Amino acid sequence: MSTSLVARFGTSVVKKVAMGVTGLLLCGFLVSHLLGNFLIFVGADAFNLYAYTLTSNPLIYLAEAVLLSIFLVHLFMATRLVIENKKARPVPYYTKQPTGRGATVASSTMPYTGLVILIFLVLHLLHFKFGTYFETTVDGVTMRDLYKTVIEYFKTPLNVAWYVIAMGALSMHVSHGFWSAFQSVGFNHPKYTPCIETLSKVFAGLVFLGYSALPIFCFLQGGQS
Ligand code: HEM
Repeated sequence: MSTSLVARFGTSVVKKVAMGVTGLLLCGFLVSHLLGNFLIFVGADAFNLYAYTLTSNPLIYLAEAVLLSIFLVHLFMATRLVIENKKARPVPYYTKQPTGRGATVASSTMPYTGLVILIFLVLHLLHFKFGTYFETTVDGVTMRDLYKTVIEYFKTPLNVAWYVIAMGALSMHVSHGFWSAFQSVGFNHPKYTPCIETLSKVFAGLVFLGYSALPIFCFLQGGQS
């Protein structure tokens, strides 16, 4: 990485914009991942065919590389901003916002909910993407039975509880992150900012309900298979 890039990355405005843009892109991923996972409610063939269509497309590697880069930039900037906040207490990034609002539980716990999401993601990829491989045939095509991998995993009540707790942390992170991302990219409007704040809370609520419904449904489903 060239020195001018390091110097540029150093400036807090660029860091905040990078946080905001990557945060909004990750929210976009959350929506698409949730909608795809809702095929679990439709049934095994629908979900497996969807996952097979995604993973057998060569562009998936490019999409995964882009997703990983966005996540790493977000993580890198977050870590730097948390360290700088610790050093420069008077004006910490995640407790006092340009709007003059006081700290909320969501805003002052961003590093901790972020850490829970990081741990969740590592375990999630280990258990699902790189998890137990089962095989099935749908419309004459042999493919991975990812539905079975997910159902088997959620047969353990502790795994369901962990997901619901982790989705609580994710929802808390998003409830502040979605709103503050707009601030970070410079969108601050007396009329629209309160709407974005409400939208942020609604989005966080839907993320929690949607992502918690999946493990609970799979647990109930698993009990029948
Ligand atoms: C709670 C319900 C969830 C379920 C049932 C679920 C299911 C899955 C499954 C089955 C895969 C493997 C896909 C494959 O190998 O093709 C996967 C991958 C993944 N999940 Fe989730 N997921 C959930 C929540 C989340 C959340 C909350 C996040 C983000 C914070 C997330 C991020 C990812 C990522 C980054 C991948 C890898 C995508 C790829 O490599 O293409 N998942 N998920």
